[in-house]
Order: sequence, then C-alpha cells, then structure tokens
Amino acid sequence: MNSQIYIALDFESGEKALAFLDEHSLTGVAVKVGMELFYREGPWIIKQLQKRGHPVFLDLKLHDIPNTVKKAMKNLASLGVDVVNVHAQGGSEMMKAAREGLDEGAGNGKRPMLLAVTQLTSTDEQMLSEELQVISKVEDSVIHLAKLAKESGADGVVCSVHEVAGIKASCGEEFKTVTPGIRLVSSEQHDQKRVATPKEAKRQTTDAIVVGRGITQHPSPKEAYRQVEKEWEYE
Ligand code: C5P
Repeated sequence: MNSQIYIALDFESGEKALAFLDEHSLTGVAVKVGMELFYREGPWIIKQLQKRGHPVFLDLKLHDIPNTVKKAMKNLASLGVDVVNVHAQGGSEMMKAAREGLDEGAGNGKRPMLLAVTQLTSTDEQMLSEELQVISKVEDSVIHLAKLAKESGADGVVCSVHEVAGIKASCGEEFKTVTPGIRLVSSEQHDQKRVATPKEAKRQTTDAIVVGRGITQHPSPKEAYRQVEKEWEYE
C-alpha cells in the first residue's frame, strides 16, 4: 500500500470535495471516496481525482450475494482505483467472489487492493450483543472475521486501531490493516465509538489511517493534515 493517510471526502457533491482540496492546497493527497459522494457523482468524481493525482480508496463496503459482488467488483476494478472493500460479514464465498471480480476487471492492469470491513468503528459491545445478537466480544468477532477475510483472498481489513495488534498476531504482519476512527484530540468522538490519535495508530503498527472530520471540519484543514502527517511520520 503506497498511500498511508487517506482523507475521507465525505462531502455532498463532487464540486464541494474538489473545491475543498483546492482551497486548502491538499495537492495529490490520498483520498477516500465513500457512498455519499460516489452515489451522487459516480465514476466522474473518481476520474477527476485521478486526473489531479490523488490515489483513491473507493469505500463502498459491498455486501450482497457473491455473484452480484463479483460483477460489481469487476466494474470497480475497471475504474483503476487503488483500494476497494466489502463487508466481511458477507461471508467467505462473497469475499472470494469479490476477489475474482477484481482479478477479472483489472485484466493486465494493477488490481485494486481488497479490504474487508470487520466491525464498523461505530459498533460497540452493547450494540453487538443487544441489537445484532452476536454473542461474542467485539475484539473476538473482529479477529474471527479478519481470519476469514484472509482465507478468502482479501489483502487486509478495515478495523479500529485497538484491534491492529490482535489481527497482526492472528493473520500475520503482511496482512494489511487500515484504520478509521482517527482523532487529533481523543475527546472529539463524533459518532465513532472506538477512536485513537494518529500517534497511537502508528504505535500500534497499522498500515494506513483514514481521517475524515478531524481534517475536513477543522478550522484549518491543511494544518490538521500536517499535524496528522507529523504524528504519523515522525512520532
Ligand atoms: O469523520 P471520520 O474520521 O469519523 O470518518 C471516518 C471515515 O471512515 C468515514 O468515511 C467512514 O465511513 C469510514 N469508515 C469507518 N469505519 C469503518 C470503515 C469506514 O468509520 N469500519
């Protein structure tokens, strides 16, 4: 994985996302495009970002029957994005199908990295047991899903910083971890339940981090980005 800090471009339109990057001179930084932006703009926004030199993580968290996911991934691979993902809870057949779709869609080009989302960082123990009736701890469920993802051909997982060590111990150092829920100040949680600072993320040896509101809603986004970079690269 070449890029290590992804800015989550959770904007309502492509115009706003591109204006944000321009206004704050965030030239060529790696970005994550999620459902909000992609469902409005489609492949156009990906092309615009690529034209400007931004590596793109397309975060659509696919979760459907294996055949549908395979065909969808074939189409996403043809966009030439760097990273895509699925929900590990879709199961091993679905993840294998995702990988096959990516291999087919990439052809002779570079295959996008396939990540699996274990448990969303907005999920906590109470929600898991009371709402979803999953009778295991978040951490155990995450490790189980990470192992399943690895066996099914994923390159890594999206997980919370607090789960990185357990995942690396169970799946091997080379299995990638990408961690959202990053805050410059640990008290600013928004709707995330399991947060950490970039410094802590680095200490936990995660491979890449995703930072959204900590940068996009900061009074000085460029300064916030630099601060994240500083903590990530030098601390
Ligand atoms: O604003 P914030 O830094 O919380 O944004 C985190 C980003 O990471 C959002 O775009 C969210 O959809 C995404 N994400 C997440 N948890 C996951 C996977 C992706 O928060 N497990």
